[in-house]
Amino acid sequence: MQTQLLPVTAESLALAGGLIRAGELVAFPTETVYGLGANALDEAAVKRIFEAKGRPGDNPLIAHISAIDQLYPLIAAEPGEAARKLMAAYWPGPMTLIFPKSPAVPAAVTAGLSTVAVRFPAHPAARALIDAAGVPIAAPSANRSGRPSPTTAAHVLADMDGRIPLILDGGPCEVGLESTVIDVTGSEPRILRPGGVTREMIAAAAGSAGVDEAVLRPLKDGERPRSPGMKYRHYAPKGSLTIVQGAPEAVTARISAMYDEAQAAGRSPLILALEGHLPAYGGRRALSLGADAAGMARALFNRLREADDLGADAIFSEAVSTDGVGLAVMNRLDRAAAFHIIEV
Ligand code: TXA
Ligand code: MG
Repeated sequence: MQTQLLPVTAESLALAGGLIRAGELVAFPTETVYGLGANALDEAAVKRIFEAKGRPGDNPLIAHISAIDQLYPLIAAEPGEAARKLMAAYWPGPMTLIFPKSPAVPAAVTAGLSTVAVRFPAHPAARALIDAAGVPIAAPSANRSGRPSPTTAAHVLADMDGRIPLILDGGPCEVGLESTVIDVTGSEPRILRPGGVTREMIAAAAGSAGVDEAVLRPLKDGERPRSPGMKYRHYAPKGSLTIVQGAPEAVTARISAMYDEAQAAGRSPLILALEGHLPAYGGRRALSLGADAAGMARALFNRLREADDLGADAIFSEAVSTDGVGLAVMNRLDRAAAFHIIEV
């Protein structure tokens, strides 16, 4: 299959909407990461997503809408008070809510679960695509399963060339990490996957916010996560990744020592560090993670892909605090490192 890469225009949106209605796949930009979309109400189309990504069939997808009205046919009960407050505060935006599902949602979307994940994205191209298709769009991140999520159209092309007919290019994604996934089926909103809508923001709008245990630690043997996606080693670069956490001087000293040791052993090391810390690593090969947690969110998946492109096989990364969007950054970084974290 020939994959077309087109800028977002009235013509490409019309073409994309037609492809979605015909049961085909289209990759498109959102404010978080690029999505790989199909008609959420067409079981056969949704199954194509799993094939194109090589995604395990037990990992459910998010249904994307472009107006609040489109939510109600997808869910089985009226949203509760906390859900309504979150929707009013952060939709459209980088937030996904989990509701009891209606029978209209095919089992392929929810991987057989009785709940459905719904997101109303803010990105104008994502909303225009859903409008053009005239149906809700089921979309996971547009990477091959196990690879870092794509934050540019070039990343999507690298993973999906020849597997899908069309990629809409809307430039780099603003948030850079996937949406916050919040379970609103219980008495208190519960964060299953942290993202751009932070724990602090959720508590401010809804009064309180729980954080699922699986967010910052590995699952124990036999444990089932509430969000199936949390059990997979995700976001992983090809090289081994080690996170070093602690006071800044101790961290730079330890990373420098490990880098030198790796180099002496004939390996190809690489450092990922906050912009302001780069000079402390001298002439060692280092990439910037940006100036703060928001910058890190935008940069992280790019840097993990660059690490692969550079052939780095021993990657050492600084950590950030888990305040604000830092919780999402550390959730992704911990998984990319398969929880290989050193405290200094
Ligand atoms: O920002 C995003 O959320 C992007 C863009 C494209 O919208 N999409 C995305 O989708 O990240 P994906 O499929 O890569 O991640 C969806 C996550 C997975 O961890 C999945 O397990 C979880 O949401 N999920 C989906 N449905 C669920 C459900 N019913 N209950 C619990 N978790 C669910
Ligand atoms: Mg994903």
